[in-house]
Amino acid sequence: MTNLLQHLPQGPPQAPGPELITAIPGPRSTAWIDQLVRYECPAITARRSRRSEQTGIDQDPIVWERAEGANIWDVDGNRYVDLTGAFAVMAMGHSHPAISGAIAEQSRRLIHGMGDVFPSVPKIELSRRLAEVTPGDLERSILAQSGAAAVEAALKTAVMATGKTGVIAFHGAYHGLSYGALGATAYRRSFREPFRAQFNPQVVHAPYPGADGGPYPATEQGAQRSLEYLEYLLASPATGVGSVGAILFEPIQGRGGEITPPGSWVRGLRRLADRHGLVLIADEIYSGLGRTGRWFACEHYGVVPDILCVGKALGGGLPVSAAVGRRSVMDAWGHSQGEAIHTSTFLGNPVGCASALAALDVIASERLVPRAATLGAWLHGELLALKRRHPERLGEVRGRGLMLGLPVQDANGAPDGFAGLRVVDGMLKRGYLMLPSGVHGHVLAFAPPLIISRDQLAGALEALDLVLSELE
Ligand SMILES: Cc1ncc(COP(=O)(O)O)c(C=O)c1O
Repeated sequence: MTNLLQHLPQGPPQAPGPELITAIPGPRSTAWIDQLVRYECPAITARRSRRSEQTGIDQDPIVWERAEGANIWDVDGNRYVDLTGAFAVMAMGHSHPAISGAIAEQSRRLIHGMGDVFPSVPKIELSRRLAEVTPGDLERSILAQSGAAAVEAALKTAVMATGKTGVIAFHGAYHGLSYGALGATAYRRSFREPFRAQFNPQVVHAPYPGADGGPYPATEQGAQRSLEYLEYLLASPATGVGSVGAILFEPIQGRGGEITPPGSWVRGLRRLADRHGLVLIADEIYSGLGRTGRWFACEHYGVVPDILCVGKALGGGLPVSAAVGRRSVMDAWGHSQGEAIHTSTFLGNPVGCASALAALDVIASERLVPRAATLGAWLHGELLALKRRHPERLGEVRGRGLMLGLPVQDANGAPDGFAGLRVVDGMLKRGYLMLPSGVHGHVLAFAPPLIISRDQLAGALEALDLVLSELE
């Protein structure tokens, strides 16, 4: 570990820890939240007063004012360290000057294009860059503005390529919340229940190896049994190969709790898809673009999917996503006959594409992919040490690179979402922004900007140690 430490990149010169000058949340945050709740649908932003006793959360959110690198400032002037990457988006750090510069320059030149009718140069360049950065022969893209829309573009492509509308997806999966994506999402029951009748009825969910409480552990044997079950699903009259056209999976489950399946399972999915003529769709919206220590998590397993979905970090903070597919699969759409049968008003927005190009350049030029691998290996070791200090409270460290999870458990070793939320709250009060993940909300997720410094992470670990001690 000492050796690894010596070789760790130090991060940006200005990489301060938290500085809190008011109670959290401060008075200005509270005043803004008071205003927000009058005008926003109440389902969106959670308030302390609206939260049930069960959740254990005892504070209102803070309101963000600005951000730089791995630091966020709220409207009261408090400075935080961001361990969330703002939903794993800001891999290259907040307000990166190269990205802000590209956005400013493009916004002076051309803000909006006409995606499928009159494309702009940044859209064309981004399409080429995506073919270059994605593995294997992935080459042709459909651009979109959210992760969910990229997943839906991939699912539609699978229908065009196979003529089949059935989909195999996995328990614990998070693919987004718009209808098509939500039909495949199986993360929280409450997300799906009111809308269930409107979903594609041909989505079948199978257990993901390593899932909390699931039947298949993340072992070779678990992988084998899961693959046998999928074979059985494909052979069964209800869901047989006659109707299934796609397998949609996350190479590492993100919101599901940073769950890493065995490589043999992912390679087995590839073989299964090949044997049955299915389109293998890897959702790398969370895991892609360096977060796991490779450009794409699929590369850890030596697998090239037929379609790879990318989003979050792609836009450098602007909403840009894409489904990038093999030529043969994408060409199943046929040629546009003048009116594209799949498009949207903002498809290939020039400012978004310019920002994405700058983000991809930053990831490459600042060597953020190897940085995520090295810093992630160090953080993984530190989390193991933390687990040794709190053996009753913490489960096994999961994930790869800077996509790591630390499960919080109760005295019986069961997932403890209530305690997880208390830890997240305790960290916020110490100036560290964290989110819980996992179907029970019990996993402390680490998805910081990849430029975060080792010192900032070390400060977070110290704070976490204290917060965990207070739980006992
Ligand atoms: C793996 C994965 N897919 C899809 C999505 C949905 O992306 P969006 O919220 O941009 O629609 C997410 C969001 O967290 C995700 O983690």
